[in-house]
Amino acid sequence: MRHAIEIDGLSKHYGPRAVLERFELFVEPGETLAILGASGCGKSTLLRCIAGLVQPDAGTIAVRDELGFVFQEPRLLPWLTVERNVAFAARSDVERARVKDVLELVGLTPAAHLLPKQLSGGMAQRAALARTLVRNPKILLLDEPLSALDALLRLELQTSLAQIVRETGSTAVLVTHDVQEALYLADRIVVLDGAPARGVLELDVPVPLRRSRTADLTDERIALLAALGIEGRVPKRSHRGLRVVAP
Ligand SMILES: Nc1ncnc2c1ncn2[C@@H]1O[C@H](COP(=O)(O)OP(=O)(O)O)[C@@H](O)[C@H]1O
Ligand SMILES: [Mg+2]
Repeated sequence: MRHAIEIDGLSKHYGPRAVLERFELFVEPGETLAILGASGCGKSTLLRCIAGLVQPDAGTIAVRDELGFVFQEPRLLPWLTVERNVAFAARSDVERARVKDVLELVGLTPAAHLLPKQLSGGMAQRAALARTLVRNPKILLLDEPLSALDALLRLELQTSLAQIVRETGSTAVLVTHDVQEALYLADRIVVLDGAPARGVLELDVPVPLRRSRTADLTDERIALLAALGIEGRVPKRSHRGLRVVAP
C-alpha cells in the first residue's frame, strides 16, 4: 500500500441526510493533511469513519499503520493524575516505558502528578495528546484538538504540535475550521463543503509557508484566505498553487 490512508467511494448517511457520498481521499505517508471546512460539513464524520468509530454505508478505507485519535475535548479520567492517565492508555510494558518520554515530549513532565481539574485547558489537551502518543501510532487523527483553547494558547499548542509531529515522524490528518492553523501546520489542505461534503479546494501549502508564521501575508495566503472568505464556496478562478477540485 503506497498511501498511509486510502479512502474510496465512502458514503455515510444519517437518516435521509447524506454527509459523505462517494468520497475519495489519499493521504501520503509522513504528510500533515488539514481537512478544513465549516462546522457541520462532515469533518468529524470523515475522521471517525477512518478511525472505525463510525460505520460507513459504503466504500473502502484502507489504513497502513496503527492510528491514534485526539478529540476536541481531552476526555481525561478525573480521578487519575496526568501520568496515570497516560499510563492507563499503555497496553504493554514497552508502552508503559514510554510514559515519561511522551510527557517530556508534550512538555508536561512538571505536571505529571497533577489531577485533570488542576490543569489549564492547554495542559489538559497536552495530556490527551500524550495519552495518544504513548501507543506510538504512526498515523494521528486530530479532530479540532485545539479549537476549545483561547487564541494565545492555541498558537502555543500549534507550535508544540508541529514539533511533536516532526519528532515522531507521524502522518497526521488534522481537522480544523481555522484557516491560519491549517496553513501553519499542514503540508496540504483539503477544503470540504456542500451536502454531501466534497473536497472543493485543494492546496499544497508552499514550502516556505509551512510551519512559519510570516507576518506578511504572501500571495498564496491571500489567495487561500480570499477563496475561503466566500464561506467555502468555490472561487471563480484558481490562483497559483490552488486547485479547484470540482467546479
Ligand atoms: N450521530 C449522528 N446522528 C445524526 N446526525 C449526525 C450525527 N453525527 C453528525 N451528524 C450530522 O452530520 C453532519 C456532519 O457532522 P460532523 O461530521 O460532526 O461535522 P463537522 O465535524 O464538520 O462539524 C451535521 O449536520 C451533523 O449534525
Ligand atoms: Mg467536528
